[in-house]
Amino acid sequence: MSTPHNQANKGDIAKTVLMPGDPLRAKYLAETYLENVKQFNATRSMFGYTGTYKGKEVSIMGSGMGMPSIGIYSYELFHFYDVENIIRIGSCGSFKEDVHLRDIIIVQGACTDSNYAHQYELPGTYSAISDYSLLEKAVEKAKEKNLTYHVGNVLSSDLFYHADNKADKWIKMGCLATEMESYALFANAAYAGKKALTLLTVSDSLVTSEETTAEEREKTFTAMMEVALEIATKFAFFDFDDTLIHGDSGGKLLKYYLKRHPLSVFRLLKVVYHYALYLLKIEPLNKAKSAWLYPLDYMNDQEIEKFYQEELEPCYYLNVIEELKKKKAEGYIIYICSASAEAYLRFCKLPVDEILGTKTLI
Ligand code: HPA
Repeated sequence: MSTPHNQANKGDIAKTVLMPGDPLRAKYLAETYLENVKQFNATRSMFGYTGTYKGKEVSIMGSGMGMPSIGIYSYELFHFYDVENIIRIGSCGSFKEDVHLRDIIIVQGACTDSNYAHQYELPGTYSAISDYSLLEKAVEKAKEKNLTYHVGNVLSSDLFYHADNKADKWIKMGCLATEMESYALFANAAYAGKKALTLLTVSDSLVTSEETTAEEREKTFTAMMEVALEIATKFAFFDFDDTLIHGDSGGKLLKYYLKRHPLSVFRLLKVVYHYALYLLKIEPLNKAKSAWLYPLDYMNDQEIEKFYQEELEPCYYLNVIEELKKKKAEGYIIYICSASAEAYLRFCKLPVDEILGTKTLI
């Protein structure tokens, strides 16, 4: 499958796409920040790449300049490639004296002089806003990184060169800066039921006529890019016992083993012994826990796998499994984080990225 503007096949593009305006910047960012990079588009030189950042799949693609351009690419990403989140990373001209060059603007809303929203035939004016969950994460990350940032409204204009000083009226209405894409991106996201955010670095000022050097722009752009990439990385943690399965997996293992090897029951004395020492505060609890898991010392991989399939899989809470799969499809990195033993958790066939369980000697 491809579109007139994108040669990618479905599945080539991650759930989260970062969009700088310049396709060569997309190339540079993908090559600098991502691992296992694959190019998915070169149509009209609007380069697009998918790779991984800290293990999470992310795509970076140019948006071009202006609302018609980002309008086309973001529409196709949302509607034809199942993309869930688009984060525009761009530059803007400051409208305010206290919004300085190199500051970051986390865009909350976009006003516009374009007629982009006329297509929806609304009986009024549409307010294009960013997604709050993405915005909140961006604010958290910007704070963590000690960046100078502003959150607010911007003007998405059809014009870079204005014939007169019409911008004054937008400044009076509190717009922090001007750029040319966010309104269309946010409107497309709303229409598709998806999420979008814009992060901007201030590259010039319409009020003080200061300008940044290429090197300064690069430095802030890097900080902004890191914020965007870290927002794109989402984690979901699931416990195992009484969360993914009902009941206690350690107890099920013991029962399973005793049924097959009844004579091993005398080993339970060792469990009782260590548990008594724990109660007497002579030993830590992990000794008793290790003793409790003694069947693992006698079972080979095939037997443990069989135990997992026969005893644990039937105990899955189906609604929780559905939730886990949904999160995976939305691009989360999935962890199972549990006190149960990795020795059997590793036979879990659910779409899990990482298992953090109790390590046993096996
Ligand atoms: N307008 C004015 N200045 C800018 C813009 C813009 O759209 N983008 C970056 N600096």
